[in-house]
Amino acid sequence: MSQGKVLVLHGPNLNLLGTRQPEIYGRETLDDVNNALHQRALLAGWDIHCFQSNHEGALIDAIHAARLDGTLAIIINPAAYTHTSVAILDALNAFEGKVYEVHLSNVHRREAFRHHSYVSLRADGVIAGLGTQGYQAALEAVFAAAPP
Ligand code: DQA
Repeated sequence: MSQGKVLVLHGPNLNLLGTRQPEIYGRETLDDVNNALHQRALLAGWDIHCFQSNHEGALIDAIHAARLDGTLAIIINPAAYTHTSVAILDALNAFEGKVYEVHLSNVHRREAFRHHSYVSLRADGVIAGLGTQGYQAALEAVFAAAPP
């Protein structure tokens, strides 16, 4: 029996991971990241669904679906929408499970406009600057927070 269900959301431009500014975001692809998360989830007996979109509404629709399908936690890298999207914040506020915000880069060491996150107002935890390991750390937090 599944221990629970976790949704991983990747925002705009993260489909280019591995080739997009690798000096900032690294050389691993999004498939690499998702495969590693799937492996870890399988080991822990969890269901995992990973989804990337360049469209704000598609990310919001995925959050709405998670409210109804038994998803216990959302791990989200909202990418640039982190800094702009009240709509994603509102959608996450309507989700009752845990929310972990992940950024590959340390956004606080970068341009000032990256220092503010709407999503952080909702997130139970925020991980920034650990590269792709940040997703794994968030997944461990999901397992640890889940009811036995
Ligand atoms: C990012 C940081 C954001 O500021 C940026 O817009 C991204 C990726 C990160 O993972 O470091 O696209 O969320």
